[in-house]
Amino acid sequence: MTTPRMMQIGRDDPAAIQAEAAAELIAGLSATPARVSPKYFYDALGARLFAAITALPEYYPTRTEASIFARELASMAEALGPAHTLVDLGAGNCEKAARLFAAFQVRRYVAVDIAAAYLRESLTDLQRQHPAIEMLGIGLDFSTSLVLPAAAGQGPRMLFYPGSSIGNFAPDEAAAFLRQAHAACQGGSLLIGVDLVKPVDVLERAYDDALGVTAAFNRNLLRHLNALAGTNFDIADWRHVAFFNRDASRIEMHLEALRTVAVRWPGGERRFAAGERIHTENSCKWRIEDFAALLVDAGFRQPRCWTDERGWFAVFAAHAGEDLAPPSALSASRRG
Ligand code: AVI
Repeated sequence: MTTPRMMQIGRDDPAAIQAEAAAELIAGLSATPARVSPKYFYDALGARLFAAITALPEYYPTRTEASIFARELASMAEALGPAHTLVDLGAGNCEKAARLFAAFQVRRYVAVDIAAAYLRESLTDLQRQHPAIEMLGIGLDFSTSLVLPAAAGQGPRMLFYPGSSIGNFAPDEAAAFLRQAHAACQGGSLLIGVDLVKPVDVLERAYDDALGVTAAFNRNLLRHLNALAGTNFDIADWRHVAFFNRDASRIEMHLEALRTVAVRWPGGERRFAAGERIHTENSCKWRIEDFAALLVDAGFRQPRCWTDERGWFAVFAAHAGEDLAPPSALSASRRG
């Protein structure tokens, strides 16, 4: 039976990884205002809570993006051409990428996620269903550096980054990420999901749902911090806060102390006054023309996008080739 190849890039010693995470977390908790990177949402429970968020009626991004792919896949494949090597960033259960295999004539599938261990099971299942496709799982924290190993294929690649995770980068980080993405797919292309600016009430409900799943996702971060950094957070002391910051065009999530709290960890402590916050996530919402300009600034050519009928979400495609055509104005397709 064909089995997928697996590789881990960067640190793979669990003790060293935990020590590095603890140092980063303590630095963030000691800062004013305190902050914690959203990458720490995703312990085992956090990953399940995020999956539950994507099923909430208020959380429109996942299902809106899926509807765009379902309707426009043929048109995307026509615009980009075959993608014999498909590199899936943040692959998780690999489901979204698997839907592209036939339309893009994929021959090599490279699934990238923060830890190779997360990918093994889904990739093994997928390999059984698609024995003719060569599969490789790479454990890599690509938010820090997106340099792919030679094993990811030397020819043109299509980078696939769905789910609007680019929104969790600040605009300057997103620009740096796209420049690295461009270097990683020279001669190939990028297919990326982007959440768009929309009415504030729709945005705020999506990040503060009636059932309290997003609140649980945010507050679960404190359990993860206790495990990683040895802090003594009591979840009952903290409430979930989410709002749209118009000036920065982003949803912000915070944890707010309900009373005066002293948080301790080995070798230190921090007092939070009642009402003081820990900033846990930004989720930037883009305008089509601004994101297209970001792609062009990063070196991509001929960006185009497909949106849903409400114009809430966009899937962008762009070439990273050395084609001679000058960067063209954005063309957008919206179906009603
Ligand atoms: C993963 N990322 C795109 C999600 C978002 O919408 O920014 C994370 C999330 N945070 C709260 N709900 C969902």
